[in-house]
Amino acid sequence: MSLVFAQWSAEYYTGNTKVDEEHQQLFHIVNKLHDAMKKGHGKDILKQTLDELIKYTIQHFTNEEFFMLSKRYPRYQEHKKIHQDLTNKVKDLRNKFVSGDVNINIELLHFLNQWLAHHIKGEDFKLFNYIKEQEQKLEVENSLLTLIDL
Ligand SMILES: [Fe+2]
Repeated sequence: MSLVFAQWSAEYYTGNTKVDEEHQQLFHIVNKLHDAMKKGHGKDILKQTLDELIKYTIQHFTNEEFFMLSKRYPRYQEHKKIHQDLTNKVKDLRNKFVSGDVNINIELLHFLNQWLAHHIKGEDFKLFNYIKEQEQKLEVENSLLTLIDL
């Protein structure tokens, strides 16, 4: 049995190497947070790890949003809104943790893990399936153009 809390799995591959690496890194930070909690690390370390998670999440979402824009992805607004909602939620949790209103507990970690898995297999797959479809269409169009040229 694996000792890793947020287990990466091949079913999370989107086919985009950069995005897949970033997703793996997000799982890695969730595991770091889980580790820190389990070892009973102090507030400073937990806060640092939460900050790392927030920073990296924002960076990853921004990259994904730029990608969606560059591909004129029709669900851009909806996808971006989901990113914003999670970012706001985690920032809020972080502030509540700092002020002592909230603890880093296993429910919170399960929530983060579930959110990641669900988002990748839901919205992110929609995005990358759309990209694959567009590329296939383009390929068909190009091969038709080649036929006409002949
Ligand atoms: Fe996303």
